[in-house]
Amino acid sequence: MAGQIPQDFIHDLLSRIDIIDVIDEHLPLRKAGRNHHALCPFHDEKTPSFTVSQEKQFYYCFGCGASGSAISFLMEHAHMGFVDAVSALAERAGLEIPNEPGAQRSQDHTPLYELLKRAANYYSRQLREYGVAGGAVDYLKSRGLSGNLAAEFGVGFAPSGWDNVLRALGSSDEVVADLVRTGLVIKKDEGGYYDRFRERIMFPIRDQRGRVVGFGGRVLGDGTPKYLNSPETPVFHKGRELYGLYEARQGVKDIHRLFVVEGYMDVLALAQFGVRNAVATLGTAITKEHVEHLFRVSPEMVFCFDGDVAGQSAAWRALELALPLLRDGRQASFLFMPEGEDPDSYIRKEGGAAFEDRGKAVPLSDFLFQTLSKRADLTSLDGRARLVEIAKPLISKLPEGGALQQLMHKHLAEIARIEPEFLTTIIKGGRQAQQGASNPRRGEGGSASPSLVRSAITLLLQEPTLATLVRDPSDFKDADVPGIGLLIEVIRLAQAKPDITCGAIVEHWRGTDEGRHLAKLAAVPHHLSEAGIKEEFSGAVKRILELRNRQRRETLLKIAPADLTTTQKQELRLLLAFSSPSEAGTTEEMEKLG
Ligand code: CTP
Ligand code: MN
Repeated sequence: MAGQIPQDFIHDLLSRIDIIDVIDEHLPLRKAGRNHHALCPFHDEKTPSFTVSQEKQFYYCFGCGASGSAISFLMEHAHMGFVDAVSALAERAGLEIPNEPGAQRSQDHTPLYELLKRAANYYSRQLREYGVAGGAVDYLKSRGLSGNLAAEFGVGFAPSGWDNVLRALGSSDEVVADLVRTGLVIKKDEGGYYDRFRERIMFPIRDQRGRVVGFGGRVLGDGTPKYLNSPETPVFHKGRELYGLYEARQGVKDIHRLFVVEGYMDVLALAQFGVRNAVATLGTAITKEHVEHLFRVSPEMVFCFDGDVAGQSAAWRALELALPLLRDGRQASFLFMPEGEDPDSYIRKEGGAAFEDRGKAVPLSDFLFQTLSKRADLTSLDGRARLVEIAKPLISKLPEGGALQQLMHKHLAEIARIEPEFLTTIIKGGRQAQQGASNPRRGEGGSASPSLVRSAITLLLQEPTLATLVRDPSDFKDADVPGIGLLIEVIRLAQAKPDITCGAIVEHWRGTDEGRHLAKLAAVPHHLSEAGIKEEFSGAVKRILELRNRQRRETLLKIAPADLTTTQKQELRLLLAFSSPSEAGTTEEMEKLG
């Protein structure tokens, strides 16, 4: 999505608004010293750790780690999508969002939304007028659905026949072409068109703004396929949409908890029993985009799955997606259905209380340890070592230093029966080993280099104009240090946009690992003077260059002199001439080169 609005526009936008005004409208800020403060809106606290920096155009919370630009704030606090947040800010800055040539945004999808809305109206009218004769009303009754609830979710009926929608809506060739683009009508290879949905109960799928973007259609009874869904279209992406989310947000003002189920009928059955806060994926596995979206709407997620093997593995997938998002104040749990039940049949047997009772759901941490414990024999030392080994990468996906991560470490130490301090050592060791593996040539002085790059980036985020001190960042492009690529890109960006702020830099990497990394570094406070920060940055850059030169020299020295190309020889001569005199062997190597 981010790719559809030009990056340049985002930079321009962020340079024209002030994050202080934007946040202050939602959350009164108090100025103290350089920064503005408030009680953090993202977690419970009694003393303010939420900080907004006007200079950086960036907010961060020392308590829960939430951070970002004005755009992030609207997304996280006002639950807006990226495009809506950008639109809201653009409106306030009096800017028009431009279309990127060739991007999807440049196409106007209004006619598709309009057609989908008319189709939804058509299907629900059919349910009212012909639903009794067509058997749809009886079917819905047999499933225990009230007329009111069906109306609220816009449930409809596609009668039998091959061209009902085509005739009702397809007034011109142009409209028919659009109907094909919505997936409601299918074009035959041999020419002609026909309705995709025939003799089915129709469930309209709405996006977060309430627009109908697609449909699910269920046969009455036992035919196959049981469900037919709209295909992927310019306005419908199964990996993004969730059935029932719009309705849940209409029904519940402030959602504290969301149930994530698998079927349309599950959402409806739960709603029928008063559990209005349920959403379903659309016949596909849950995606990262789904989970991110859900956590923007609600701090607590209950994933409902079958108790069988397939359900367990679907739950595991959800767990892995949720881990990085579980910052303090958020939680996830799993509600496994008894054998042969789905949420629909379960709530009909047990009533709404079965869902409201928190005791029935397995907290994410328990599910994680239970699953891993099955993979390792905890009675043996080897098995417990293996448990630590497989738990480590998962626990390190959690937000660094958060309460959940600490508790999980403690718990892991307990079940592995090792001292917590020892566990910390193993985990730190693991991290270093990982870095070492991706960087086998890291020689002397190398161990300091990741922090060198990190500190250069941190300083740049404090003061983006430092980038002007670097002549050409490509000079150290082949330094073999983790993060060097990102450092170079940040320098290039700050060189190209001299007025860029820290918030806009972080925004540039929205939705990527780099972005999350930058957001963490951006929150690091500094206590350096203007002169101090320059000196510190120049020093870091100089040391990175030295490191790059040393690595290059080592590489070239490994090649037999006879095999070196002329250019390589020249390069090596320069490298040797400029290396510090303390480094042994230099003159000797020079002589060998002749
Ligand atoms: N699904 C699908 N295509 C199918 C079967 C299922 O797209 N042929 C999707 C639908 O989104 C469905 C979900 O997977 O809602 C769950 O499937 P299932 O449990 O079989 O359906 P239910 O929603 O429980 O529907 P019902 O109770 O009517 O059988
Ligand atoms: Mn079912």
